[in-house]
Amino acid sequence: MALQDELEQAQTAALAAFAAATDAAAVEAVRVAWLGRSGRIKALQQGFGAASPEEKRQLGPLFNTVMEALKAALVDAQARVSSAETDVPIDLTLPERPRPVGSVHPLSQVAEEVERIFSSMGYAVVDGPHIEADEFNFGRLNIPPDHPARDSQDTFWLDLPGAAEKRLLRTHTSSVQSRTYQQVGLGKLTPPFRRVVVGKVFRYEAVDATHDNTFTQVEGFVVDRDITVAHLIGTIRTMLTAVLRRDDVEVRLRPSFFPFVEPGFEVDVRLTSAEPGSRFARWVELLGCGMIHPRVLEAGGIDPAEWQGFAFGLGLERLAMIRHGIADIRVFNGADLRSLEQFGAYG
Ligand code: PHE
Repeated sequence: MALQDELEQAQTAALAAFAAATDAAAVEAVRVAWLGRSGRIKALQQGFGAASPEEKRQLGPLFNTVMEALKAALVDAQARVSSAETDVPIDLTLPERPRPVGSVHPLSQVAEEVERIFSSMGYAVVDGPHIEADEFNFGRLNIPPDHPARDSQDTFWLDLPGAAEKRLLRTHTSSVQSRTYQQVGLGKLTPPFRRVVVGKVFRYEAVDATHDNTFTQVEGFVVDRDITVAHLIGTIRTMLTAVLRRDDVEVRLRPSFFPFVEPGFEVDVRLTSAEPGSRFARWVELLGCGMIHPRVLEAGGIDPAEWQGFAFGLGLERLAMIRHGIADIRVFNGADLRSLEQFGAYG
């Protein structure tokens, strides 16, 4: 019966060893020591050869029971240490892994502000197509074919399949004026109305620090009764104060010519506290504006004796440059994140 005792003792010792193991390596060491190919159970099994047939009949089932018990203890011990390992408390003091955070493009920030300001003054925010017909970009704006005003707004012409005439990439957002006035003639819109467009425009232009071939214009136009230049100037001043948020903005109005306004002006700005000789200490041409030309209203079917209006078109990049102190327009379309992310989110 010595073998039987030994087996029973072995079971007790092995179960205790599995219960005492606290990590996966210790469990594995216990498994090797007891259940392994040169482990203690194997050694005991080898002693069976010398036992009597009577002993063997008793030892067989006992051996099986011990093996079952040890295998179950092994599985339990493995489960216990692996769950103990995942239960290790999280160290909340570890620094967080940095996550890349995007930023709103400086132009989009200013665009959104401009739209908000005009919405608050009762303007509807609208836009029109980038690929435009000559009629809307030029014709209805009192710029007939061969008019010299076209030279300053050369663009990209497109031969589209199936189109009767060439299309162009709009050179200014004034095309949206033409489209809006046409709506009146078609009976789909009646004055008074106030509209603002913030949209892309395209010019066949050499790119430098102050010019790009793809840029953004803000076009505002109002058609109502008894509208005067005073309303125009007041609106522009209100917009500039709200967007630029500084009290050193000096505004200059110069007589100018655009075929679709009469009279027409150009508005320049400078910052009186800018360092002498620096970019914004000098006058920066910001926008064109004027009273909507009677012929432009008539082209849309609006009676200029009853309705008047003003319109202006401004370069949004210029405005964003002044607002953020950006000296080079190429930053906006340059897609260089080192420049763009400096402006962060809404400031
Ligand atoms: N469309 C003109 C331009 O792009 C700007 C402008 C708009 C001038 C409205 C007068 C009135 O240069």
